Amino acid sequence: MVWTIEANKLTRRFGEKVAVDQLDLQIRPGEIYGFLGPNGAGKSTTIRMLCGILAPTSGGGCVGGFDIVQESESIKTVIGYMSQHFGLYHDLTVEENIDFYTGLYLKKRSEIFRERERVIQEIELKPYRKYLAKHLSGGWKQKLALASAISHRPKILFLDEPTAGIDPVSRRTLWDILYKLAQSGMTLFITTHYMEEAERCNRIGFIWNGRLVASDAPGRIKSTVMRESLFSIQGEPMERCFDLLKSSSHVIDVNFYGDELHVVMPPGFDGMDLLKEELKEKGIEQISIRQISPSIEDVFVSLSRQSS
Ligand SMILES: Nc1ncnc2c1ncn2[C@@H]1O[C@H](COP(=O)(O)OP(=O)(O)OP(=O)(O)O)[C@@H](O)[C@H]1O
Ligand SMILES: [Mg+2]
Repeated sequence: MVWTIEANKLTRRFGEKVAVDQLDLQIRPGEIYGFLGPNGAGKSTTIRMLCGILAPTSGGGCVGGFDIVQESESIKTVIGYMSQHFGLYHDLTVEENIDFYTGLYLKKRSEIFRERERVIQEIELKPYRKYLAKHLSGGWKQKLALASAISHRPKILFLDEPTAGIDPVSRRTLWDILYKLAQSGMTLFITTHYMEEAERCNRIGFIWNGRLVASDAPGRIKSTVMRESLFSIQGEPMERCFDLLKSSSHVIDVNFYGDELHVVMPPGFDGMDLLKEELKEKGIEQISIRQISPSIEDVFVSLSRQSS
């Protein structure tokens, strides 16, 4: 297999801080790879190294067939990069912003015009093409940033939190476009803090303190990674039930989920009947307990617990 993105023991230090720690990655052509991790985990630093913008301290990698250290300039011809704070020109219109970015790669006016029309079509920006960027809502701004990042037809697209702060409908629209790009053969490397977006990726990687602690398809991550057992518990009054569970020595974690409590217990925990009796004795009524499968968010929190 020829990987589109590959990292081998990729490491970056900032003084004493190891921001990315011996990261190994292998990503296939046309894959949507989601990169998850808490703030400061090393996601953006990884992207900056893979884009050839930041030199690794040690280790290396290849992107689009180019070495990230020796051929960092060539990498820029095959990738698009929508950074966490993508630089749109607010006093330029949608068309002018796209022309600016296309003009960095193409010189002929006719080619710039042709690519602009293609990208406006592809990213469905037509209704706002004459608007100044500063007058666009958050969702449309992100669409324009995406259009600008792909105006030179990259094979690989890095997206650093492209949907941060935009509403669910705009996010869904943006994801529809991302799927179309992937179906056309583009490889997507995307960071997000939205767990439901992680489910949309072909594979996801969890990075924690610079280390990749899991990497697999979302379904497999959910069924294999979380060692603890997860239960949904209902009981009245709910706040008291929460307090009792929180203070129980068996309980690892407990959280409110609508009218249920999600309770994390040790791996293979089989003392639920006893726990139920205990709750009953302490005045909790209408108790219902069932074991549930973890969501990506549960796995994320569990990995964070295991890794800290
Ligand atoms: N230029 C720099 N100089 C010093 N430290 C840095 C630099 N860039 C990043 N770091 C540190 O490296 C660590 C990883 O940062 P990075 O921006 O990669 O995290 P992140 O996973 O993208 O976080 P977020 O979710 O908040 O965007 C952090 O501790 C950060 O403070
Ligand atoms: Mg970041």
